[in-house]
Amino acid sequence: MLQLIERCQKYVSGYKDYCQELYDNHIIYFRPTNPNSIDDNWFFRTKPWYDKKEKGLIEGQTISFHYWAIDDGKFIGEFQLRPQLTEKVLTDIGSIGYAVRVSEWGKGYGTEILRQGLLIAKKHGMEKVLLTINEENAVSIRVCEKLGGELQDTIEVYNKEEGNHLLRRYWINL
Ligand SMILES: CC(C)(COP(=O)(O)OP(=O)(O)OC[C@H]1O[C@@H](n2cnc3c(N)ncnc32)[C@H](O)[C@@H]1OP(=O)(O)O)[C@@H](O)C(=O)NCCC(=O)NCCS
Repeated sequence: MLQLIERCQKYVSGYKDYCQELYDNHIIYFRPTNPNSIDDNWFFRTKPWYDKKEKGLIEGQTISFHYWAIDDGKFIGEFQLRPQLTEKVLTDIGSIGYAVRVSEWGKGYGTEILRQGLLIAKKHGMEKVLLTINEENAVSIRVCEKLGGELQDTIEVYNKEEGNHLLRRYWINL
């Protein structure tokens, strides 16, 4: 059974494999950690940064909570929650980031991660979340709409990975 858990040293090697798969497949819709930077000390080296990020103590960075998705001991994917509706959240990254390792696509994991993630968002006191999805990311659009996403609009945006593109903004009421 898939579970969203807090980041922990035990699953770092699975996390690295997951990042490697996204890198190797040139996935542009989600930016994982560079797998080459993940060594034996990575978890403890980066923990203070993630802790500060949760508390909003990193200047210029949106508050975010990071969860890892594990099924039967195997690293499957991740879920990120940004509880504040900042300008950056509204026009770029959205309230939620989620991804599944490429070798596990199409098995229902993405839907389950988002479903459980919405419950976490509710526990954080959120009443609605915004998903921002590249118009060409048909799979994420499908997952979002399945879980009740209502399209607000489509805007033109630019970022380094995706270039100029259309971004759909979906709200899910919790
Ligand atoms: C988006 C992502 C998390 C989905 O994960 P997944 O485990 O493959 O998703 P699921 O198996 O739960 O569901 C996929 C759905 O898309 C559908 N689908 C697959 N290919 C499709 C396509 N080309 N067009 C439309 N729908 C498609 C599937 O049929 C399924 O819907 P169904 O349950 O109604 O049959 C995964 O593709 C991923 O990690 N992508 C890269 C990161 C990313 O894009 N994150 C989201 C950023 S907004």
